[in-house]
Amino acid sequence: MQEALKEKFREKEELLGRKLTCHITTMGCQMNARDSEKLLGVLTECGAVPVETEDADILLFNTCTVRENANEKLYGHLGQIRHCKEKNPGMLIGICGCMMQEEDEVLRIRQKYRYVDLVFGTHNIWKFPELLYSCIAEKRRVIDVAEMPDPSRDHMPVKRKYSFKSGVNIMYGCNNFCTYCIVPYVRGREISREPEDILEEIRDLVKDGVKEVMLLGQNVNSYGKTLENPVRFSDLLRRVCRIEGLERVRFMTSHPKDLSDDLILAMKENEKVCRHLHLPLQSGSTRILAKMNRHYTRESYLSLVRKIKREIPDICLTTDVIVGFPGETEEDFQDTLDVIREVGYQSAFTFIYSRRTGTPAAAMEDQVDPAVVADRMKRLIDLVQEFASRAADRDTGKTLPVLVEEVNSQTPGMVSGRLSGNLMVHFPGDASLIGEIVDVELTESRGFYYIGKRSGDGASAGAGGI
Ligand code: SAH
Ligand code: SF4
Ligand code: F3S
Repeated sequence: MQEALKEKFREKEELLGRKLTCHITTMGCQMNARDSEKLLGVLTECGAVPVETEDADILLFNTCTVRENANEKLYGHLGQIRHCKEKNPGMLIGICGCMMQEEDEVLRIRQKYRYVDLVFGTHNIWKFPELLYSCIAEKRRVIDVAEMPDPSRDHMPVKRKYSFKSGVNIMYGCNNFCTYCIVPYVRGREISREPEDILEEIRDLVKDGVKEVMLLGQNVNSYGKTLENPVRFSDLLRRVCRIEGLERVRFMTSHPKDLSDDLILAMKENEKVCRHLHLPLQSGSTRILAKMNRHYTRESYLSLVRKIKREIPDICLTTDVIVGFPGETEEDFQDTLDVIREVGYQSAFTFIYSRRTGTPAAAMEDQVDPAVVADRMKRLIDLVQEFASRAADRDTGKTLPVLVEEVNSQTPGMVSGRLSGNLMVHFPGDASLIGEIVDVELTESRGFYYIGKRSGDGASAGAGGI
């Protein structure tokens, strides 16, 4: 199919007298980011050239639907894009991602957005080459959304954003049904990939220059439970760490209810596992956690954190917090602030609760006044920032390995990279360092990032004669 599509692209190129351009606008989480790399892989393999703006021959929107107003934002945006299509009638507009797993949204596009040419969902993303081919070859709209995922979707070419690091899906879907969250409804039930397939994919990535992988799943701690031969996530992690040439392993996301002692042990035993754990709290109030269907309490979360810190003292913790869940009182909110103080997260994603239609929490009666929520959010962010800078102070003065990601766009002569603990470091260097892991002295903490210098830089000034 890829070959036939390539041929169609060639025909279009000849007509236009230039290469086809493409652009993917990605919303949402790491899962979507990874899916977009697959979509871009298909497009670039066929000869399309990625461009920075949405004014492209092929424009895809990879949507997220976790928040209630996401669809209105998308439709507003589509309205603006219409003008691009009026200027370039050959333009092809496609919409995919989580929002397209919702029947009502697909219907709305089918009826009201006739200039959208292609619609598919997350479950059948692997059919993208075929669907795009039909769209171009038969000059018709193609709307194809599957109700059930098909695991064969992994065999797609990929165009990675970074040459030296990559996400790797280890599972799809979610079984947890937190009461505020739409993800299980759109992404479907949990399906784990076979460990051999995952390991093979990572070996290939390493051959292609990848040094760091991020294992992706909505709840990686329940990985492998439903496989014919069940595998624990901790054992998968150990096997991934044994891959020669791979230098760093991360994973996301870890649900606190399923984080096992063996996972802590696997992290501790393997230096390749980054000293970073994203452990979503959502709320620090046991009463609210129960209403959220999170299956842990404030106490069990805190004792888990204590255990992790005891076993892996250099761990950096980050989290997600929702403010203003139905029924949240000032006392519940104070419980959340207390947990933030006690844990000392390196950073936190803070979300205003969104009353997401289709979730059980949307039907709960005691929704919180938006003004109260806004005030709590402000207090939460202030506290998170205060504790983030304290957490960053911990490592100031140390020399630690940094994986260099890019040339710093704001300060000439500087590059930016990431610590094992996930914080960014900016230090003097040039493009030749990109993709390298180098030792950097963290000379100054700026809260959410560090300024550093290569060990030896500066210190050896004047010692050139040796
Ligand atoms: N599987 C991951 C989270 C995926 S969604 C986990 O359980 O940790 C990412 C984050 O979006 C969630 O952690 C939650 O904090 C936030 N979120 C999800 N639904 C939300 C809603 N209705 N309102 C506000 N935030 C929400
Ligand atoms: Fe949503 Fe909860 Fe599943 Fe995370 S674990 S994706 S928050 S239902
Ligand atoms: Fe959004 Fe889908 Fe991720 S709804 S948060 S992109 S799984």
